[in-house]
Amino acid sequence: MERRAGITALGTYAPANIVTNDDLAARMDTSDEWIRTRTGIRRRHVAADDEFTSDMAFRAVEDLVRRYGEEALAGTDLVIVATNTPDALFPATAALVQERFGLSAGAFDLLAACPGWLYALSAAKAYVESGQARKVLAIGSEALTKLVDWNDRSTAVLFGDGAGATIVEQVEAPYGLAPMVLGADGSGAPHLHAGAVGRCLPNGEPLTDKVHMNGREVFKFAVRVMDTATLEAIEKAGLTPDDIELFVPHQANFRIIDAARQRLGLSEDRVVVTVDEYGNNSTASIPLALAHALDEGRIRDGDRLLLVAFGGGLSWAAGVLTWGGGRYPARAGARDASDDAAGRAGTAGAGTGSEGSS
Ligand code: UT7
Repeated sequence: MERRAGITALGTYAPANIVTNDDLAARMDTSDEWIRTRTGIRRRHVAADDEFTSDMAFRAVEDLVRRYGEEALAGTDLVIVATNTPDALFPATAALVQERFGLSAGAFDLLAACPGWLYALSAAKAYVESGQARKVLAIGSEALTKLVDWNDRSTAVLFGDGAGATIVEQVEAPYGLAPMVLGADGSGAPHLHAGAVGRCLPNGEPLTDKVHMNGREVFKFAVRVMDTATLEAIEKAGLTPDDIELFVPHQANFRIIDAARQRLGLSEDRVVVTVDEYGNNSTASIPLALAHALDEGRIRDGDRLLLVAFGGGLSWAAGVLTWGGGRYPARAGARDASDDAAGRAGTAGAGTGSEGSS
């Protein structure tokens, strides 16, 4: 049988603490109207002061177990955590996840800006399809608001926190992931960065420990690359845009998402929009959007999902995932039955495909 990797289980987490546009307008020179019309964002979930990337990754894995049962984690032999905000440079956040869930697994973090979770998915696919791993726990977890300068209105209004955890393992064709598109253009590094141990970029631009972004340049790049990367991913899957049931893009700005949707010729009901509820939570954004669409019954087995993300690097990734083929039936209502208040906050009131269009 053709070895093909697919997603067989998913769990998510969004912090209980919600910050609305009006909350931000009360502390900086901005307005609900500006944020909604320029970005589609209405509110974002922000990690508590003592809540970090590892904590959110743990919560997302717990949600996965609640939804699919303990057996979904059994036999996991590799953990990858895609994040731009690891608790520590080392140990890897993935090692903390390995220990927390008692997994007999290798573990590493993956840093590729906002497309990080799609990069993790492509790495997981390669491990599984080569036979080097049997079951990969691929997580996107982000505490991006801790890197935000709350005095900089041009970035502070955009970001949020959250996490998504997925199991990637072998499924039977036609389910699973088609070959993915990965790309990077480091000449765009000055347009979006946050420092770590270095002092400056190769062009001499100084680095600080806060997010620096040239919004207009990133916007132009994003619209361009969403177009080219999605078409390339669709072609790699041997499909045309008409074959795509649902478009699940990185949630950074509704205007970027809608421009890509229109270029692909997809109707509004074929795109998932959650940016209104979460803002841009980087590596967590696509898993959260997937969970949202699943909870709304918008994804059925056999549906072809188009995934795409872009971000610092500049970098991008895209791929077509045929949903289904999993071995663990999701427990209906497991998410709603949870008495985890924060878990409830992660789904309550999330916007639909049309709500973000204001
Ligand atoms: O994962 C990747 C992460 N990054 C992105 O995806 C960002 C991509 N870029 C964008 O989404 C948009 O460029 C932004 C939402 C960041 C900005 O929207 P824009 O339509 O490109 O606005 P702009 O930067 O051209 O700024 C327009 C005006 C400026 O004032 P002037 O110069 O026209 O007087 C800004 O100073 O809006 C001002 N402005 C604000 N006003 C109120 C900038 N931020 C704010 C704010 N509230 N928060």
